[in-house]
Amino acid sequence: MTDVSDGRIPLLRTEALWSGYGTRGVLADVSIAIHKGEVVAVVGHNGAGKSTLLKSLFGLATIHSGRIVLDGMLVAKPTPLNSLKAGIVYLPQRKQVFPELSIKENLALVAQRLPKHDRSDRMNHVATIFPVLRQRWNQEAGSLSGGERQMLGLGLAMIMSPRLLLLDEPSLGLAPDLVVRVLEKARDLAQGYGVAVVVVEHKVKKVLAIADCAYVLRNGRVTFGSRASDLMDEATLLTAYL
Ligand SMILES: Nc1ncnc2c1ncn2[C@@H]1O[C@H](COP(=O)(O)OP(=O)(O)O)[C@@H](O)[C@H]1O
Ligand SMILES: [Mg+2]
Repeated sequence: MTDVSDGRIPLLRTEALWSGYGTRGVLADVSIAIHKGEVVAVVGHNGAGKSTLLKSLFGLATIHSGRIVLDGMLVAKPTPLNSLKAGIVYLPQRKQVFPELSIKENLALVAQRLPKHDRSDRMNHVATIFPVLRQRWNQEAGSLSGGERQMLGLGLAMIMSPRLLLLDEPSLGLAPDLVVRVLEKARDLAQGYGVAVVVVEHKVKKVLAIADCAYVLRNGRVTFGSRASDLMDEATLLTAYL
C-alpha cells in the first residue's frame, strides 16, 4: 500500500479505527489520511461502510476503538457540534434543503450560525464560487434541477468556511455530464480554497479522475489506499475491488 502522506502532516487521520452503530461493528481497522487542499475518494460496493466512515469522522457513529487525529491532536469522541466547530461539514446522502425557500433564503438560514457581520460576506463569497446559484438567487430550491440542487448543497456547506468537507455520493441521481460538473466543483473547492474534501462515490472512474488519493473499502476494511493516479490503473483497481 502506498503511503498517501509522503511525509506531510494530514489535517485528519484515523489510526486502526473500529466503529459502527451501538454494539454493531461496521468499520474494521481503518487507517486513512486526509490532507488540506486534496480530494480523497472513497469507493466500494454497497454496504462496504463508506457512509459509516463519513459518519464516524463527523460524530454520527459509535467509535469502538482506534484513534481520530485532527491537527495532530487526538479527538477523544467526535460529536457533530464539535466537528462543526472544528470546521468539519458533512453532507449526507440525501441532503436537506428547504424546497419552499429560495436559494438566498436557504443560504441565509445556514448563515444565521455565523456572527452577524460575517453573514453577507459569506453569502456573497458562496455566490461567487457558484455562479449558478447567483443566477437563481430568488428561485425556490424545490424548483431547481438535480445538479443545481447539489450545487446548493455544496454552497450551504461552504457558508460555514469548512476545512474538511465530507460528501456522501454527491452525484446520486444526476445525469453523467452533471456528475462531472459536481465532482469538478468539489475539486475546485479543494484546489482553489484549500478545503480537504472526502467524496464517497459510486462513479469510480469519474471520481478517480478528480481525486488526489483514494481508498477502496470492502466489508468495512480498507483493501487499498493509494494516490489516485496509481489507482487509475484499471487492473490495480479491479484487484482491490474483487
Ligand atoms: N444506522 C445504522 N444502524 C445499524 N447499522 C447500520 C446503520 N447504517 C448503516 N448500517 C449498516 O452498516 C453497514 C455499512 O453501511 P454503509 O456505511 O451505509 O455502507 P455504504 O455507504 O458503503 O453503502 C451496512 O451493513 C448497513 O446495513
Ligand atoms: Mg452509503
